[in-house]
Amino acid sequence: MTNLGKILNKKEKYIVGLISGTSMDGVDAVLIKLKGCAEKTSFKQIGFITYPYPPGLKERIIEIISSIKVSLDEISRINFLIGEIFGEAALRVCQKSGVAVSEIDLIGSHGQTIWHSPMKEEMFGHKIGTTLQLGEPSTIAVKTGIPTVGDFRTADISSGGEGAPLIPYFDYLMFRDKSENRAILNIGGISNITLLPKNCKKKDVIGFDCGPGNLLIDQIAKLLFQKDFDKNGNIAIKGKLSVELLNFMKKHPFLMKKPPKSSGREEFGDDYIKKILKFSEKLRKEDIIKTITEFTALAVYLNIQKFIKDRLKVDRLIVSGGGVKNKLIINSLKKYFKETKVESTEKYGISPDAKEAIAFAVYANETLYGNPISIKNVTGANRENILGKICLISL
Ligand SMILES: Nc1ncnc2c1ncn2[C@@H]1O[C@H](COP(=O)(O)OP(=O)(O)O)[C@@H](O)[C@H]1O
Ligand SMILES: [Mg+2]
Repeated sequence: MTNLGKILNKKEKYIVGLISGTSMDGVDAVLIKLKGCAEKTSFKQIGFITYPYPPGLKERIIEIISSIKVSLDEISRINFLIGEIFGEAALRVCQKSGVAVSEIDLIGSHGQTIWHSPMKEEMFGHKIGTTLQLGEPSTIAVKTGIPTVGDFRTADISSGGEGAPLIPYFDYLMFRDKSENRAILNIGGISNITLLPKNCKKKDVIGFDCGPGNLLIDQIAKLLFQKDFDKNGNIAIKGKLSVELLNFMKKHPFLMKKPPKSSGREEFGDDYIKKILKFSEKLRKEDIIKTITEFTALAVYLNIQKFIKDRLKVDRLIVSGGGVKNKLIINSLKKYFKETKVESTEKYGISPDAKEAIAFAVYANETLYGNPISIKNVTGANRENILGKICLISL
């Protein structure tokens, strides 16, 4: 026996959402109280934490992504380790919120992406794309005693899609508007954007990854300043823009690649950073940080100019993710998007730090109701699937 039927019949559910993004700055864990499903979804945020990875784990995962000596045993074991850590994060957010774990109905976990390569490659006579999120959902379910939905990207990849971005459906649920065209931007490690034309239906939603968000800034700040990130953009603000470096970065093929498109450390990881640093040998360290920070905003703008401008005038740009705290990114966005209002999701009652974790809590609910959260236009899949695998708990 499981309590799946009971959960479905509840009017209000406590759901935990879990994600660690490409920045790997910690596991975001949110607790929400949710009502309804699909377009009728509404929720209240009860608690939010960022639960740190143990020292050294982020660095080791980055090495693994860069294919530095790794065994199958280690990858397999890290899958269970991250499951344990995500489980701990879920328990901790309940404790911090003062809600007993026995009250929680469901967990939605994105996991930790370690590889994302949706482009199909020939393999033994088959054409195969792939994505891999670690953080075994069964481990999370067993550790917490809470039914857990995980692995949201694989069904979309199996249908020929990018498996990303998945946030546009959440943006559609929460930010669509009758009278204005909205763009919803998340600046995590990678930045992704959702376009919601006024009065849109799900099928009208456009969305894609724009390019690097914070991940280049983080890694270069680490190499040049021994800092995990550029707090509030303070280093960048001291720097001078290098037009040469900016022009070099503008040539990155991902920028002009036609959507659907998604990205990760495969495109903007160690190899690309080496190229940037080689190009910048004669620049001051601050000028490099300034220019790559500017590039984060410019990449968003160039994508909109190239792929959206002729179809849609963006009235409002609503921003979330850690990048909201970087003053230079926000100022540069305001500079490029002169005729658009630029705001944080905070103004709409959605914490910019918790937004993606909330989305995966909402998505776990959608999985139970059998509602597809992927959008064909966005991921390029040949059908919209019910995403997520459900790990149940015996009563
Ligand atoms: N105070 C801050 N100032 C500047 N940047 C920040 C600040 N706080 C967080 N960030 C940036 O946000 C990143 C985390 O953003 P997040 O939305 O969690 O990304 P991801 O989804 O990739 O984990 C950090 O790695 C850092 O670059
Ligand atoms: Mg994060």
